[in-house]
Amino acid sequence: MERKTFYITTPIYYPSDRLHIGHSYTTVAADAIARYKRLRGYDVMFLTGTDEHGQKIQRKAEEKGVSPKQYVDEIVAGIKELWKLMKITNDRFIRTTDREHEITVQKIFKKLYDQGDIYKSEYEGWYCTPCESFWTQTQLKDGKCPDCGREVELTKEESYFFRLSKYQDRLIKHIEENPEFIQPVSRRNEMLNNFLRPGLEDLCVSRTTFDWGIPVTFDDKHVVYVWIDALSNYITALGYLSDDDSAYRRYWPADVHLVGKEIVRFHTIIWPAMLMALGEPLPKQVFGHGWLLLEGGKMSKSKGNVVDPVILINKYGLDPIRYFLLREVPFGSDGVFSNEALIQRINSDLANDLGNLLNRTVAMIDKYFGGTIPEHRQEGDFDGDLRDTFAKLPATVEELMDRFQFSTALAEIWKAISRANKYIDETMPWVLAKSEENRPRLAAVMYNLAESLRIVSILIQPFMPETPPKMWEQLGIVPDSGAVSWDSARKWGGYPAGAAVRKGEALFPRIDIKKELEELEAISAKGKESPADGGAAGTGDQKAGETGGLITIEDFAKLDLRVAKVLEAEKIEGSDKLLKLRLEVGSETRQVVSGIAKYYSPESLIGKSVILVANLKPAKLRGVESQGMILAASNDTGLVIATLDGEISSGSRVT
Ligand code: MSP
Repeated sequence: MERKTFYITTPIYYPSDRLHIGHSYTTVAADAIARYKRLRGYDVMFLTGTDEHGQKIQRKAEEKGVSPKQYVDEIVAGIKELWKLMKITNDRFIRTTDREHEITVQKIFKKLYDQGDIYKSEYEGWYCTPCESFWTQTQLKDGKCPDCGREVELTKEESYFFRLSKYQDRLIKHIEENPEFIQPVSRRNEMLNNFLRPGLEDLCVSRTTFDWGIPVTFDDKHVVYVWIDALSNYITALGYLSDDDSAYRRYWPADVHLVGKEIVRFHTIIWPAMLMALGEPLPKQVFGHGWLLLEGGKMSKSKGNVVDPVILINKYGLDPIRYFLLREVPFGSDGVFSNEALIQRINSDLANDLGNLLNRTVAMIDKYFGGTIPEHRQEGDFDGDLRDTFAKLPATVEELMDRFQFSTALAEIWKAISRANKYIDETMPWVLAKSEENRPRLAAVMYNLAESLRIVSILIQPFMPETPPKMWEQLGIVPDSGAVSWDSARKWGGYPAGAAVRKGEALFPRIDIKKELEELEAISAKGKESPADGGAAGTGDQKAGETGGLITIEDFAKLDLRVAKVLEAEKIEGSDKLLKLRLEVGSETRQVVSGIAKYYSPESLIGKSVILVANLKPAKLRGVESQGMILAASNDTGLVIATLDGEISSGSRVT
């Protein structure tokens, strides 16, 4: 039978700013849905990408003294690294600077022009460069941009316009007749009442005052301006109007565009009107989620909190961060991000509830039965209630996931985890273990716990990609076996007979909240939110812009680079990325934590000469102090540490 398709997109990201944890919100949510749909057997197309044209980018590149393409290339590489670090499973990554995208946008523009949906006129208005928005005099707030409050410029220019007004009635009808089209409902009402019913104006879709954009083929002093370029990515990525449009035919219309609430209007008014004009079907749904804010305001103005996803992931691991993003705030509402809330969730939900349940279960099976639960088992009190809880759970999770209610889905899974923890207190295995005749009952208790954990491990896969394999390892379940398929979670009793548990590391080590918050506070106060441990690169470096990207020899001399010899190397508990190295630097030794565990085994490093940044302020990673950082080169495919071409004593300066 043909597999059902599911097409999901995130917005394409502006490559202008350093990405913070709020940016990863849409992408992590989309990834959870994509993973979930794949587990349910769908043929999924998951698209994300970058929105790279426009005056703002052109200006930033000029400030840095590089070409716009060079400027975006570097930042986009950082964004791709971040998605890799976050285990985002997008099937395609579109850049609006991709040649194929540009050609299709030109075709779309020409088609709309030829059929009279685009016409030439003159635009006069107030332009806000950071927001790339035009405003009329009356829309301004105290003479400034009503969205961001910054200065606006009076602009008058020849422009092409899209006949948005022509589609107003059809749009209203579509939205009224398709309640699922805009979700959540509050955003649907807002679009109808605040924008559509008062009336739409035609939309400026080309500019002549900058050239970092896609040229209009028949009038090349114009470049296509944001809307037609950016929004059409959802179909150009599938080969729309190209020689091979098979993906378009297979996946369009999109099942859902996930977008932040501030861009719902573009996606539910401009985008569907464009598609109507092109004679193409409309996406089935646009889901506008809320924002992750910091107490007191926007995320970009980070005060007292570390919001760099790379630092947070290197410190706490990927799954806790993904869990927090999806659990903390109901999808659709705004929520507050704080380091304290993050650590509390890690300690209570992850370390205490899930981590302990696994740890206790595996330790007891090991202690009472040498690792394998006997076949002879005896039912008893509380079994029925535990089984019922887990029997109902998969359907509940599915129903919630189909409505993108991640937070509630996770809350339901965690209720079941608590139920299983309570089952231990109720059945008191340590008492049962005292008498030989209770062994069949003890075996049943152990089986029920292992089985509860098996079901949990399956259901958390969409949210937490790293934890389930660790659980299977400890529970002795073979990955990719029938015992971990999504469907098998619906049936109680799938924990394999004869499986042998293996005691392992704690899934989520507890964090000393007071100490940790002090450390985070120090990182944020220093404003040194940059990856200091060889982890994935962050994005744009704002400071470099001030000097055109160049540094002086005095700047360089501030670095104390030294030759260091690796004396010892070992993995850091609870992290699959970090190694702890003991280095000899002349007559001293240093401890350095480095994010290279995926690429180097500890043994292979012993005796190697590496280059140490010796005057880097010490930092703690996973609670382990790092006194400096070693240099390494990395790209999309790998990482190598910088070594020296020949023998030289440790402690020598590198200049
Ligand atoms: N380039 C446009 C989208 C064009 S789509 C055809 C854009 N880019 S963006 O980089 O500014 O934002 C990308 C996504 O990140 C948006 O969905 C936005 O809402 C989301 N977020 C950025 N900061 C956010 C938070 N603090 N919290 C939650 N999501 C946020 O808009």
